[in-house]
Amino acid sequence: MKANVIVHRDFRVASIDSRLYSSFLEHLGRAIYGGIYEPEHPTADENGFRRDVIDLVRELNSPYCRYPGGNFVSAYNWEDGVGPRSERPVRLDLAWRTRESNQIGVNEFVDWCKKANTKPMLAVNLGSRGLDAARNFLEYCNHPAGTYWSDLRRKHGWTNPHDVKLWCLGNEMDGPWQVGHKSAYEYGRLADETAKAMRGFDKSLELVVCGSSHSDMKTYPDWEAEVLEQCYDSADHISLHMYFANREKNTLNYLARTTKLDRYITTIGGVIDYVKAKKRSKKTIGISFDEWNVWYHSNQQDKEILARDEWPDAPHLLEDVYNFEDVLQVGGILNTFIRRSDRVRIACIAQLVNVIAPIMTEDGGPAWRQTIYYPLYFASKYGRGSALQLITDGPTYDCDEANDVPYLDASAVLSDDGKTLTFFAVNRHTERALDFDARLEGFANARIIEQVEMTNGDLQAVNTATRPETVIPISVETAKIEDGRLRAALKPLSYSVIRLSV
Ligand code: AHR
Repeated sequence: MKANVIVHRDFRVASIDSRLYSSFLEHLGRAIYGGIYEPEHPTADENGFRRDVIDLVRELNSPYCRYPGGNFVSAYNWEDGVGPRSERPVRLDLAWRTRESNQIGVNEFVDWCKKANTKPMLAVNLGSRGLDAARNFLEYCNHPAGTYWSDLRRKHGWTNPHDVKLWCLGNEMDGPWQVGHKSAYEYGRLADETAKAMRGFDKSLELVVCGSSHSDMKTYPDWEAEVLEQCYDSADHISLHMYFANREKNTLNYLARTTKLDRYITTIGGVIDYVKAKKRSKKTIGISFDEWNVWYHSNQQDKEILARDEWPDAPHLLEDVYNFEDVLQVGGILNTFIRRSDRVRIACIAQLVNVIAPIMTEDGGPAWRQTIYYPLYFASKYGRGSALQLITDGPTYDCDEANDVPYLDASAVLSDDGKTLTFFAVNRHTERALDFDARLEGFANARIIEQVEMTNGDLQAVNTATRPETVIPISVETAKIEDGRLRAALKPLSYSVIRLSV
């Protein structure tokens, strides 16, 4: 089985926005408490942050981290999370039926971001609250001094402004499950007025408005058209979310679901262009895919926890344990974002620690990399520069999810200095190797720097606290360059990274 590929140095899709490799932390389950923050943990620093977790996050080199939600933000009072800790109120979080101690708030989160080498992408509550709380929150965070809110921040111990430039106006406001759910018109109007007020403070902010929670929503894609109709001029990005599952235990179907992701991006790209034309606008709204991941392994456990008539602190919610099969899916999702980097400017894996996350922890115990950590790590490390257009011709399959799904799912990135070309490739075939044969145009003297492979005889293999290295990448040397072609035998159900010096 052979897949022919042509790649040309000058055929670029887009310059990849490095924010494609961003992440997300919500006050949900053990993401914050027991995840990034655990003052009694042996590795805790002077602020109570787990150093072992910080180290793993730093390795991912995640440009931005979205916070504090998620569904949580839609009934959140940001003021509860600032000021002396002993005076912060304990509240009920309606989204996740949890008690929120507010021991971590925006100031601590910004401190954590600095340690973890990431930047905050903050969300305002447009569910239970609105414009006024949003503008006050912004002033508290970003104004230097001399006003009520900025002086309050200084009094709380943060003299310098946080200078947060990237803001989400609400979360999943199309979802009936959201506190303060709205119609597209109601939300679009509110987002527009909120954006205008926030820009009154700082014109240079980047503002993300809510698109659909997923592409099966009844209101999709009318939602995006109406929202953008109301706030095209005041917004910069529209947010999309998508989660993937293999409930029916059908690998080929599961892996074909990235075609749906691609269609989702194409459709919303069309909606953006349509509203842009109607508005006679010069500006093109970007896509912020600020929640994406595999999410299904923990569904049953979550149902049981949420059905209990109690309000626990930091329960074990959404603790998906990822397997090897999910490596292939996450590799395919990231390939899609790279290929569609003409539209997608920001993407946040949801989430970062413990909650549907690449990093897991045990309370008082170790932190480790889940299987899906690796494709994210490699994409973030080597997927910066220009996305190159790949012309591919290879075998395909039909399944319930889609027809003509290529077994090869690949992307290619040329580094900004033009010296390194990286291929990311998934072979979706369950039994057969795929001869990857790429004609390298405009890349004289190419030579292989490194080839990394992830395969596993057991699709269900997972990493755990006691066996954290069951699923890991290995270096191999099977690829060759001959006559201007890169050839590699991609094993069945494998994920590969091949880096060339060009
Ligand atoms: O990431 C988990 C949840 O998924 C978020 O809170 C919400 O925005 C989405 O539905």
